[in-house]
Amino acid sequence: MCGIVAYIGASTATPLLMEGLKRLEYRGYDSAGAAVLDPSGTLRVIKSAGRVLVLEERIQSEGGLDGVMGIAHTRWATHGEPNDANAHPHTDGKKGGHGIALVHNGIIENHRALKTYLEDRGHAFESDTDTEVLTHLVSELYDGDLEAAVQSALKEVTGAYAIAVICEKEPGVLVASRKGAPLMVGVGRDEYIVASDPSAIVAHTKQAVELDDGTVVRLTADTFRTTTVDNIPVTSKLMELEIDLEQIELGEFDHYMLKEIHEQPQAIRRSFRGRINAPEGRVVLGGVADYAQQLMKARRVVLLGQGTALHSAMVGKYIFEELARIPAEVDYASEFRYRNPIVEDGTVVIAISQSGETLDSLEAMREARQRGALTLGLVNVVGSTIARETDAGVYLRVGPEIGVASTKAFVGQLATITMLAAYVGRQRQLASQTVSELLDQLELLPDHIQGVIDQSEAIRDVTAKYITRENWLFLGRGFNFPVALEGALKLKEISYIHAEGMPAAEIKHGPIALIDDGMPVVFVATRNSQYEKVVSNIEEVRSRGGHVIAVATEGDDEIRNLCEDVFYVPDVPEVLQPMLTVVPLQLLAYHAAVLRGKDVDKPRNLAKSVTVE
Ligand code: M6R
Repeated sequence: MCGIVAYIGASTATPLLMEGLKRLEYRGYDSAGAAVLDPSGTLRVIKSAGRVLVLEERIQSEGGLDGVMGIAHTRWATHGEPNDANAHPHTDGKKGGHGIALVHNGIIENHRALKTYLEDRGHAFESDTDTEVLTHLVSELYDGDLEAAVQSALKEVTGAYAIAVICEKEPGVLVASRKGAPLMVGVGRDEYIVASDPSAIVAHTKQAVELDDGTVVRLTADTFRTTTVDNIPVTSKLMELEIDLEQIELGEFDHYMLKEIHEQPQAIRRSFRGRINAPEGRVVLGGVADYAQQLMKARRVVLLGQGTALHSAMVGKYIFEELARIPAEVDYASEFRYRNPIVEDGTVVIAISQSGETLDSLEAMREARQRGALTLGLVNVVGSTIARETDAGVYLRVGPEIGVASTKAFVGQLATITMLAAYVGRQRQLASQTVSELLDQLELLPDHIQGVIDQSEAIRDVTAKYITRENWLFLGRGFNFPVALEGALKLKEISYIHAEGMPAAEIKHGPIALIDDGMPVVFVATRNSQYEKVVSNIEEVRSRGGHVIAVATEGDDEIRNLCEDVFYVPDVPEVLQPMLTVVPLQLLAYHAAVLRGKDVDKPRNLAKSVTVE
């Protein structure tokens, strides 16, 4: 939700800022801008509605932006429509300003009250944004020391932020801060790069500092100081970034989503590495080992997430109850937080999040922790806020996910939940032989997934047949019910086709009225405990003219007679099926978006990481 990149050093800032913005564009892409202090010490700001490419063209047409320090931003609008005026950076105005420019990711909740206060003191505003208010507040408090002004301003604001600020009156000083939104500092030789995530840093340095919440950092080309907003020094730890440039480049693929679908076999192999020992029927999860006793005695597991992560949580409920035999429930993180949840002794709350920064999930986890739950994070991004603030957790290890539509993270989340549930189950009631057999099957999954990916062309051909249809249904039961939800979400978010997912049994309670001649209805109909029931539901749809596309188990020839089209997946135990059955649905959504000419990796109105509530 908005990407920030800032630079201070000896190199020309603009190319580096633009390259960083392009890497961060998945976080928001409705407008972009940059501000640099040019060699004469003048603040120059260029910004524009539209993508980073539009900004680059504008910078070129305005003669470039020269200078060795600057800040830049790519936006996902929260306050004010996506136009030039609302794009960041914001400045403290031409009249009476100090030449301050600021970029911001997050929301300043008390911006209205602050604006009134500032207007009373003569400040005039040009945009509808909360960010401009913060910029003017820093300006109001500025007395020759940018760091002090930022610290004082941040004491007055409520909400979430990651910011980077420069000031014409203090050339050579860059100040940044974060609270509730991610920000890190890449540490080079006599240069620093501040960015929302490592992808904007890793091409230049692998050394970085993850800023703690509430920290303010003051940078010059060769000095680094971190403090609290009360100016108390904070010690920051240097770390090595774990991602490689190759992992964040497109390579041979047309889109990140397709690349990430193709990476799934390798991604879950990485997730399993060193964690599963099939012959001994053992799962080793270092990240939760200190809490093994508490997990074994857990009375209730609550799984939280949003979007795709919520769908993982929903499958996770089935997996946990099946393998660990602990009552499990699922909630939207956003609903859990505000419904006065009951957290009794023995409650374990598991926050699932690819980014580890989704504000709804983060706040729900904080709420649970405050109420006494043991909190675990199943997170992909190492060092992200959820990963740092939970009591314990397991990293997904699927590598960076850049496409806005989550794919490999979903499969990684399911792999991780399965390992965790087997780990807990083994300590409770699961026989070593049972775990051993499950892990044997788990190890085969990467190859099975590859087999499904290899059907991509056939899936594209089927998708093409239905590409003009505007309404789709996705149906499944049991473990595969959340897969139906995920299939519908994928289609909606990147193709803008209306799709609904639900338990297959539910249609006869109302939604069956939607079915008319030729409506595509996708059934996840693999061989499992509910197969016969799903087949009956297929008959119900067919008799009303719906066109059935099934995801079925290899060798199931009967289903071919019932359905217009079938995508086959290998036969695996029911508990593992979602990791396979979701893959044809990811590919279907991908091909639908491409066939409709949509921007697969940057769907309209969306951003990868949702750091607002
Ligand atoms: O980073 P998170 O896993 O917490 O993100 C949660 C959702 O915002 C995310 O899964 C979203 O629904 C995706 N766009 C789905 O493809």
